[in-house]
Order: sequence, then C-alpha cells, then structure tokens
Amino acid sequence: MKRITIAIDGYSSCGKSTMAKDLAREIGYVYVDSGAMYRTVALYALDNGIIKDGKIDEARLQEEMKNIEISFQFNPERGRPDTYLNGKRVEDRIRTLEVSNHVSPVAALGFVREEMVRQQQRMGQEGGIIMDGRDIGTTVFPHAELKIFVTASAEIRAQRRYDELTAKGEACDMKEILRNVEERDYIDTHRDISPLRQADDALVLDNSHLTIEEQKQWLLDAYKRATAG
Ligand code: DC
Repeated sequence: MKRITIAIDGYSSCGKSTMAKDLAREIGYVYVDSGAMYRTVALYALDNGIIKDGKIDEARLQEEMKNIEISFQFNPERGRPDTYLNGKRVEDRIRTLEVSNHVSPVAALGFVREEMVRQQQRMGQEGGIIMDGRDIGTTVFPHAELKIFVTASAEIRAQRRYDELTAKGEACDMKEILRNVEERDYIDTHRDISPLRQADDALVLDNSHLTIEEQKQWLLDAYKRATAG
C-alpha cells in the first residue's frame, strides 16, 4: 500500500500528539512531533541565557541556531520518540510550564521557522510519516494526502494539560494554565509567518467530547479512506 504523508494541525493541548502517535504505531509510520522541535529551541535559549526576563536576544539565537542539533529516538517503553538536544535527552524538560510559557515567541521568529521547516521536510521525504503541529498541512507538507485539523474548547484543553502536569507531580494552577492556553492560541493564530490556520482541504475533528477510543477510530477511518483505491 502507498505510504502517504499525514499532517495533523490544531490548537495546543488538544491531543494531537496522542492521536498521531497511536495511529503511527498502528499503521507502522514514523511519528514526528514538530512542536517538540520548537520547544527544544526555546529550551536551548533559556539554558544559555538567550531568553532573559522574557526577552529573546534574537541576534544571538540566530547566530547559535547552527549549534542546535535536534533528533528523535524511539522509546519503546513510551511507544513514541523522545526528543534529544545535541545528543542529550530533553523529552521531560521541554514539557515544563517554563518552556511552554516561552515557546510561542520563539516559534514566531522567521529564522527559527525556516530552519525547522527545512528539517521537517527532510524527515518526510520518503512518505510514511505522520507529523503534528500548526503549519504542517499549510507550509511543511502542503501536498499531504491526508490533512486533519483538530480543535477542542480552551477550557477542556486547559483541564487536560492540568491533569497531565499534576499526574507528573508538577505543581500548577488551573487559571494560569488556561491563560497560557489562550495566550498561545492567540500568538499561534496571529503571528505573521505561517500562523495556525485550517488548510482548505483539511478534515476537521472537534474532539471536545470524544473519548480517546472514538477519536482513534475516527482517525483510522480517515486514513483508510485516504489510502483506498
Ligand atoms: O504543540 P506544542 O504545544 O508542543 O507546540 C509548542 C509551540 O510551538 C507552540 O507555541 C506552537 C509552536 N509550533 C509551531 O509554531 N509550529 C508547529 N509546527 C508546531 C508547534
């Protein structure tokens, strides 16, 4: 069967990566979490004093992009790839609230996006890939055979994020998380370069009231339809 390209875009914390990862495992495709790449750049900037008091030293970040090597290694225990920065596993560090709070302005920088998109397109050269993010169906793989646009209400997404962080033992405040979700939605949809928007030929999935199982089935059906014939 033809190995297609699947682009999954949508708002933050709406379960894109869970559904993408599950489908990838089921159909034997490579899964790439493009948000993890932007998070890794933000982590590097925080670790190296390139972001200070919320301000990004853009000239320095641009200069240091060549020192940021991002890779993924499949972790059989988690059933999904872990993210590495210059050979070090950073999967947990890129998911903290600190990185979440600083990543959107980093992801809005043109030179960061150019480099990430270049790497993402290289990863998808052979097909057989599922990538999730914000601009995958519009910019990274505009010719993807299957494009999905995922939405859910901001409150439901904040609740999911809260549950995820508290399960990991991270202290968090529901109001702050909701504010973070809404702020990221705003920046992601209003930035100048590749803002989050639904591709004209994307299928829309509102998963506010779907169980993981129902969502899995919906996605598998969409995949089967896309590869039929
Ligand atoms: O999906 P996520 O929350 O891990 O994404 C982290 C940030 O990166 C978020 O602010 C949106 C941004 N992002 C992006 O601009 N383009 C992508 N393809 C993926 C993520």
